Amino acid sequence: MLGGAITLLTALLSVGEARSRTCKARNLPAIEVLGLEIVDLSAKEQRGFEAWSDPPDTNLLYDFKPLDFCNFTITYTHPGLEDRINVYVWLPFDDWNGRFMAHGGGGWSAGGDGALASGVALGYAAANTDAGHSLFGEFEDVLGNARKWAVPSPGNVNWVLLQDFASRALDDLPKIAKQVIKGFYGEAPSYSYWSGCSTGGRQGLMSAQRYPTNYNGILAVAPAINWASFVPAEYWPQLMMRKFDYCPPPRELETIRQAAIDSCDDLDGVRDGVIAAPGLCTFDAHSAVGSTFEIDGVMRKVTTAAAHIANAVWEGPMRDGKREWFGSTHDTPFGGMSATGFPDGLAKTVCEAGGKNCKAYSFPISPEWIQYFVEKDPDFDVLEMDETGFFSALHRSKNEYGSIMDTSDPDLSEFKAAGGKMITWHGLADELIFPNGSSNYYERVLALDPAARDFYRYFEASGVGHCVGGVGAFPSHALDSLVSWVEKGIAPETLDAATNPMDKSVPVTYRPLCLYPQVAAYKGGDPKDASSFECADSFNAFKGPHTEL
Ligand SMILES: *[C@@H]1O[C@H](CO)[C@@H](O)[C@H](O)[C@H]1NC(C)=O
Ligand SMILES: *[C@@H]1O[C@H](CO)[C@@H](O)[C@H](O)[C@H]1NC(C)=O
Repeated sequence: MLGGAITLLTALLSVGEARSRTCKARNLPAIEVLGLEIVDLSAKEQRGFEAWSDPPDTNLLYDFKPLDFCNFTITYTHPGLEDRINVYVWLPFDDWNGRFMAHGGGGWSAGGDGALASGVALGYAAANTDAGHSLFGEFEDVLGNARKWAVPSPGNVNWVLLQDFASRALDDLPKIAKQVIKGFYGEAPSYSYWSGCSTGGRQGLMSAQRYPTNYNGILAVAPAINWASFVPAEYWPQLMMRKFDYCPPPRELETIRQAAIDSCDDLDGVRDGVIAAPGLCTFDAHSAVGSTFEIDGVMRKVTTAAAHIANAVWEGPMRDGKREWFGSTHDTPFGGMSATGFPDGLAKTVCEAGGKNCKAYSFPISPEWIQYFVEKDPDFDVLEMDETGFFSALHRSKNEYGSIMDTSDPDLSEFKAAGGKMITWHGLADELIFPNGSSNYYERVLALDPAARDFYRYFEASGVGHCVGGVGAFPSHALDSLVSWVEKGIAPETLDAATNPMDKSVPVTYRPLCLYPQVAAYKGGDPKDASSFECADSFNAFKGPHTEL
């Protein structure tokens, strides 16, 4: 009798649970957020979902598996502003870990659906936003899609959509998603996280700076902060090619980069193909002039013009001896065609067979930013821009857009007061965003609050490229470190990093990433072991040959 009652009770409870997890839009309570009007709400059940499309969230370590989740899409507007924003919320049916994860985007994209899949694969209720402009499409399209929305008519910037992308949609997203989560599961998430790299990193920092109570933990990697300065500065390498009237084939620049690595590798105490002490590297590309390289069987020599260009890329935009923004570190790939095996980069060139008729190839966001937002002219030709025009554009970019896009306010006191925790790491061989912008920001945070390490920690990953890639050790467990910090109060002294965590065929090298400004100093022993390194104020002197990574 008693047993029967318990069975009945259990059955009723599971019916209740099943009902609250029904993937139907009409089962959700009305979503209410000040300033928003919901235009449409749809729910779509996905079982065995395998078509992960967009690039996944590179911060997350997950195993690919078919996913079962409820796909809610919420379309809303800010009445009177005529925008139309989509928020995507993917809720796992069975193995929800009780947490909420918002995922950031990349380039002009505020978020992509592949990122949601990686969050769901880890058991998170995952959400992101398109911030009011198209999210899906070809990768080139996502990178270059500003032309579709930036300038509705020549001379006029779409300020509403820019503000949505810069900040406002980032506040709407968690407010909407948390209500959807509560409506679906019958309970609010126990913890809320942000994960993003590049634009996603900037979005994470914007959340900490401007909307400090939305997340308990923020992982903001290689952040696209200081936007108004660094985005124009990304065009500097191409400008230098025109100034020196030479477009070097990728192999010529790669020859210079290898010479720099040979010269500066030992400065960090270990020879491993990575320059971990870029501040100590004073390599001058002119010392590589005359060294030979081969293209399609023809030997060529490094030119003086290429050396001028390489030095300028490393130095960054300089006006009358004054630094206007940072340059790249010496081991950062200059760029090239991926078909040739070289990674992308800001000094990318594309040549015909034999390295002939090379053309400069800009990272599209930089010229688009100058064209659409600074000049407000879809027909503006950046190729016509000389150095004076460049510095004028940089100045106007900072002046008009600093407070909207820079995301560089060092005052995190409200985030700290709310109990938030944040981790940023940046690859020192980042080929798109100059890592010194991140260390510069962190220095400014510490200058304002010397105890900022209690809630915000910054780490540098030498030899790691933009968000992922490169020959350095990659901190693939950074999210775990963040979750332990938020939920167990264990602040990360180091981030565990390893080369090629995804590629099981390559022997893995382990390195600790040290809390900035400390560095991983080599103590001796196998340079493939993390235990051969200790965090210290400076590197130890090089003592002898080591194996390549
Ligand atoms: C989620 O729902 C939206 C709106 O119906 C749809 O456009 C999108 O393709 C769906 N995605 C998945 C993976 O179900
Ligand atoms: C840039 O950052 C690197 C790595 O922290 C540092 O060694 C170097 O001194 C910095 N350069 C500038 C110009 O601040």
